[in-house]
Amino acid sequence: MSTKKKRKDNSYPDIHHILSISRVIPVVNIDNPKQAVPLANALLEGGVGVIEVTLRTPAAVECIKKICREVPKMCVGAGTVWTRDAAKKVRKAGAQFIVSPGRSDAVFKYCKKHQIPLLPGTQTASEIALWVERGFEAVKFFPAEVAGGVNALKAYSSVFGELKFCPTGGITSQLVDDYLSLSSVVCVGGSWLVSKKAISERDWGRVNPELLAARESSDNSGPPWD
Ligand code: 3PG
Repeated sequence: MSTKKKRKDNSYPDIHHILSISRVIPVVNIDNPKQAVPLANALLEGGVGVIEVTLRTPAAVECIKKICREVPKMCVGAGTVWTRDAAKKVRKAGAQFIVSPGRSDAVFKYCKKHQIPLLPGTQTASEIALWVERGFEAVKFFPAEVAGGVNALKAYSSVFGELKFCPTGGITSQLVDDYLSLSSVVCVGGSWLVSKKAISERDWGRVNPELLAARESSDNSGPPWD
């Protein structure tokens, strides 16, 4: 088999363009589908064109569907996807990318078959190596703070070369700059970007200042991707 053919067989949808949209990705748990569209619009107004809606509420799939349909400028990802069934549901709802908290071969196969970009969760060197072997150019590092944070990423970057990371889990506004200053970190995700209170109280005016503070520091932290 030629190298060219082999590469084609291993082809996997590129996540580069999605992770380049914003250096901070809001990870949101939405309880009520009525909150979904105003929240997505508030994020767009705050300059953030990407959102990860986690499947941690019964309303999540409906929220993904609504945002995809009514806020076409928003790039919508589905998070906390670790079964084939969940992957199928969010694909049908229109999700443009899928984020898994850890390794799921069922989700990987489904995403590959349907050509949906996947950001797989990793925590150890062995897990990272698996995705590198599968041809991934970026992985999620989760739960970042528990798994060694910035120091662990520095160690992994020294061995995994060009691989990019999107750390999430336990990151706060105080820590985000430390992560973004690493050349291996393309963007940082987290729920701290939009407070639960702002969502539950539908206080969309509050989303912007919170985001702006995060964006201000991320804008100063250099180019995301070579
Ligand atoms: C995720 O799914 O990426 C994390 O749960 C986000 O973690 P955080 O809530 O600690 O930001």
